[in-house]
Amino acid sequence: MHFKLFDKAIYKQRREILRSNIGSGLVLLMGNEYSSMNYKDNVFPFRQDSTFLYYFGLDKDGLAGMIDADSGEEIIFGNELSIDDIIWTGPLPTVREMAAEVAVQKTEPYTQVANYVQQALKAGRTVHILKPYRPENKIKLAGWFGINVTEVDSKVSVKLIKAVVAQRSHKAAEEVAEIEKAVSISVDMHLAAIRQTRPGMKEFEVAAKVEEVALAANGRLAYPTILSIDGEVLHNHYHGNTIADGDMVLVDAGAENDMHYAGDLTRTFPGGKQFTSRQADVYNAVLGSMDHAISLLKPGTTYLEIHRQACIKLLEGLKDIGLVKGNPEEAVAAGAHTLFFQCGLGHMMGLDVHDMEDLGEQYLGYTDTLIKRTDFGWKSLRLGRELQEGFVLTVEPGVYIIPELIDRWKAENKLEQFINYTTLEQYRDFGGIRIEDNFLITADGHRLLGKYLPKTLKEIEALRNY
Ligand code: GLY
Ligand code: MN
Repeated sequence: MHFKLFDKAIYKQRREILRSNIGSGLVLLMGNEYSSMNYKDNVFPFRQDSTFLYYFGLDKDGLAGMIDADSGEEIIFGNELSIDDIIWTGPLPTVREMAAEVAVQKTEPYTQVANYVQQALKAGRTVHILKPYRPENKIKLAGWFGINVTEVDSKVSVKLIKAVVAQRSHKAAEEVAEIEKAVSISVDMHLAAIRQTRPGMKEFEVAAKVEEVALAANGRLAYPTILSIDGEVLHNHYHGNTIADGDMVLVDAGAENDMHYAGDLTRTFPGGKQFTSRQADVYNAVLGSMDHAISLLKPGTTYLEIHRQACIKLLEGLKDIGLVKGNPEEAVAAGAHTLFFQCGLGHMMGLDVHDMEDLGEQYLGYTDTLIKRTDFGWKSLRLGRELQEGFVLTVEPGVYIIPELIDRWKAENKLEQFINYTTLEQYRDFGGIRIEDNFLITADGHRLLGKYLPKTLKEIEALRNY
């Protein structure tokens, strides 16, 4: 095989659990196709759908998997290579050979999916599908269901979503081992950046050193690298600035390993050898918030509460600096922290860097009784629910000084009882700081995943001692 797999018994067992949770009807899981970049044959790197990978393992384009929850029949749909295909791809295993590797007995040509779906629908059976995020899968499903493309989302099976989320949220030991590999590669990506950055370098030169590490480990990027001296721009993919002494460099980068599990780490370090004292103070406020959040990670606590506690701790630190005033807990209740920390404390991580986000944030990060908030800041918290043993998640507090946001708030004197706008004015060009690590929730607490990546001010500056 051109791809790696767990033992076939693992896939079989995962499907059996899904089947018993679904009870009745057909489960149809769509694999992905190649997606064209600028013309048909020039394609983006192939990425298999994560739920398909979880249950059927096969890292190959043009496949679909079906589980008949009533009869127990399992089918892989896919087309055999023609001689024209083989000229371009070389010989590859047959669909039957691939299916055998994940303990699936039956295979059918891809065109047969339509027949199975339509016969089931005709017989009044439920065909359970997930919400497609790729246009080509949406179009195919519309054709098979005999509906308009705009109606496909209404056919999504909430029962299937909930069953998949329930299973994929709890990482088994073999998954944790793969995530640890991905995180450790990610640690090396960050060490490359922290050790090799010099004033005068372009951001893209550092990004090249970061990304090389993932490729050299037979991995790839789990998401596009964020590497910037403008760290306040949350998803900043521009790499054209020159790094100067006195700047801070924010690097948010992670590897996807050869089993497609992700790492997601962030560090912020000085462009020169040392942080300025202003930078050091804010850095320590972020680190204090992070360490407090980490100390609270355990089963039974909601991540929403840990986010709230992290925000309070952050404001305590910013109060010491003079950027905020008043009671930090009341300030967080009023939303004052969102001027500095506009996003969430973290998210689930696994086969996807934001694990299962395609299944819907309400289903993966919240519950029927804990509804995701919609107000500024809180709406970006992707995980709110009670933590359970086996969850893998990120902890990533930050401070982002966004001049445009300050101007808006200041114009309204918004929350002026908590914000020290005069002092904040002197921080307009401060930039942003984020620190991020990845954790497993254990029976009695948590465990840092992967190798330790230095994060205290002293440790970071020691690595910058060029
Ligand atoms: N690593 C990017 C993010 O968590 O959004
Ligand atoms: Mn993250």
